[in-house]
Amino acid sequence: MTLLKRLYVAARALALRLVANQQVRRVVMPLAGLVTRVRTRGMSVQERWNHSIGWEVSFWDDWLRTPEAERRLDPATPLDGPPTLVRCIEQLGTEHVRIVDVGAGPVTPIGRVMPGHTIEVTATDALASEYDEVLARAGIVPPVRTIFAHAERLSETVPHDFDIAYCANALDHMYDPALAVESMLAVVRPGGFVVLNHFANEGEIQHYTGLHQWNIDERGGDFVIWGKDSSENMTTRLADEATVECTRFPDPRGSRLEIAIRKHPVS
Ligand SMILES: C[S@@+](CC[C@H](N)C(=O)[O-])C[C@H]1O[C@@H](n2cnc3c(N)ncnc32)[C@H](O)[C@@H]1O
Repeated sequence: MTLLKRLYVAARALALRLVANQQVRRVVMPLAGLVTRVRTRGMSVQERWNHSIGWEVSFWDDWLRTPEAERRLDPATPLDGPPTLVRCIEQLGTEHVRIVDVGAGPVTPIGRVMPGHTIEVTATDALASEYDEVLARAGIVPPVRTIFAHAERLSETVPHDFDIAYCANALDHMYDPALAVESMLAVVRPGGFVVLNHFANEGEIQHYTGLHQWNIDERGGDFVIWGKDSSENMTTRLADEATVECTRFPDPRGSRLEIAIRKHPVS
């Protein structure tokens, strides 16, 4: 590694550590949001998404050295959360459970060991090729290799017989999250689930920096996706195909939402 590259990596690691501090975040994030607004002025959502890919990839370079990365890289990691995912697996009533993780990152967060079940995970992400390079640089071979798929086009990429489509902290990063949820629902079998696990209103909290362009929220029990210019009640949009249940959990950053969308069984 050249001296310049070493300095850059050290400066970025320091910046990430500083931004993790709540006091520093309160000052730095609105400024970062302002810079982002200026730099992306006049761009479409899709153009802003393309523009921010570099941010996302550089985040994962550093992340591979964290304890969470170690947890995910262990093939014996239990599947013991989040609670809504565990509950949906139990409700399926089948021993073998096939899950597609959407926007999985370089290493899926889903554990593979759950008593009474065999868990098969297919991990997908729009930046899978970039993550192959991140993993290769670190000399890491993940237990589940993430494959390339845009969530919005998932139904054209993977089979349509998954028991569960799971998506954590990724929907608010996508260029068309409502279409992505519909595509996830299309690849689960009748009676299967889409399970979403997201911080509420992350676009606002992150000041629309990086790939964060949307907010996931619960309003009067309904699942809502909203952005700066639009809002979509997903409970209403999906009503003909599925039932939607939102659960809000307290979180030091605000709140976290777990959403279970059950596709209607064939009558
Ligand atoms: C914050 S990361 C979350 C990763 C992982 N789910 C987790 O919980 O650690 C968001 C992920 O969404 C992916 N992503 C963003 N837009 C996407 C899209 N349109 N289709 C598929 N993945 C996308 C990014 O590449 C990134 O890996």
